[in-house]
Amino acid sequence: MSAPVSQSTEAPSGLLITGVTLYGEGDPVDIRISGGVITEIGPELAIDGETVLDRRGQVALPGLVDLHTHLREPGREDTETIESGSRAAARGGYTSVFAMANTSPVADNQTITDSVYRIGRTVGLCDVHPVGAVTMGLAGEQLAEMGQMAAGEGAVRIFSDDGKCVHDPLVMRRALEYSASLGVLVAQHAEEPRLTVGAVAHEGPTAARLGLAGWPRSAEESIVARDAILARDAGARLHICHASTAGTVELLRWAKEQGIAVTAEVTPHHLFLDDSRLETFDGVYRVNPPLREDTDAAALREALRSGIVDCVATDHAPHASQEKCCEFAQARPGMLGLETALPIVAALFVEDGDLDWRWVAKVMSERPAEIAGLADQGRPLAAGEPANIAVIDPNGAWTVDAEGLASLSHNTPYAGTEFGASVTATVLRGAVTHDAAALATGTGAGAEEEGAAR
Ligand code: DOR
Ligand code: ZN
Repeated sequence: MSAPVSQSTEAPSGLLITGVTLYGEGDPVDIRISGGVITEIGPELAIDGETVLDRRGQVALPGLVDLHTHLREPGREDTETIESGSRAAARGGYTSVFAMANTSPVADNQTITDSVYRIGRTVGLCDVHPVGAVTMGLAGEQLAEMGQMAAGEGAVRIFSDDGKCVHDPLVMRRALEYSASLGVLVAQHAEEPRLTVGAVAHEGPTAARLGLAGWPRSAEESIVARDAILARDAGARLHICHASTAGTVELLRWAKEQGIAVTAEVTPHHLFLDDSRLETFDGVYRVNPPLREDTDAAALREALRSGIVDCVATDHAPHASQEKCCEFAQARPGMLGLETALPIVAALFVEDGDLDWRWVAKVMSERPAEIAGLADQGRPLAAGEPANIAVIDPNGAWTVDAEGLASLSHNTPYAGTEFGASVTATVLRGAVTHDAAALATGTGAGAEEEGAAR
């Protein structure tokens, strides 16, 4: 693993964020931060020697929490490291991310999960919570030592074979039983592998016309239904990764009505894009689960609105250009997500919808923190609370430049897309982990970190 080079620390004199509205509501206030904690909130506070972040007209939200990130360390540090991914997270407004276990080697033991956690702490740009594998090597056969990983320094609280499905029902049943006794959460990548052999695109009219092998909705839905029932009988909680179909929404509705402890996430790309993008055969649009039809995306948006789907998670999946810029069927599945998630959610639900920033805080910070059991994230913006904050400029239009992102990879489907909102600052326990103004002028902590990484 690489040696991390930068750690963000709080300005010794403390921090004052000025002129923001909390959750976009009410009159502008200043937020005073000291010792990693919000100490005072009120209009036009007197500067008491603090570093000032002038953010007049902008919106303060609790720092965002991503339940689903791929950081590629150990093993593919050419595509992302814990450091570069943490920087991408900070730029996206995230103060906490869960790093998936499908690294090389797989994070199926305490040595690796603890090490991912420690590197994340040393980098200090974002809390990096290791996700532990459910099965050894993600092979779906032998359960990993979940208890050891949960008890380690990395305190693993989410287990997932993401990238692969825990497809054997008996293995999944045992995993749910163990998770219930350990008080941890199993997050399932719902894909019945017998139904997706060779599949590269959503099974529907577009794939048929383009001659691409189809991945049916039933591959996802059959596992969601099965696992909801297994979770019910094990008395366990279950989390569904990247819900992608209208049928999954109906199954989640049914499971929740039964009182089954199931939660689910949806990605920005399954909310915003559909399989019409595949017409270009551009490998940047290949992702698992695949982009579905516009009716699925609409159902997912409505499900997120209504709470049937609990939260947004990025499935940030960096890949090298040679693994994406190739024949569609050969392209690796996955796309970048951390730096564009908030602008997409803002575009769909606030700019073009009737939802507000309070709701954005719920689906991108509070609910994911709750699902993961994080006590110090997704907290109210109030005196005495940990200073984990994202500042958003609702009028900060920007155009995505794939090369300009903090990620080491460039596989964003949004290159050249203009978004209306931008993240202008992120604060983790009082430390400024992202400052767009300093980045733009090439000064300040953000810029130094930038330089250190390259
Ligand atoms: O598109 C995806 N990419 N889906 C997954 O489940 C895994 C991920 C990856 O690791 O690249
Ligand atoms: Zn997945």
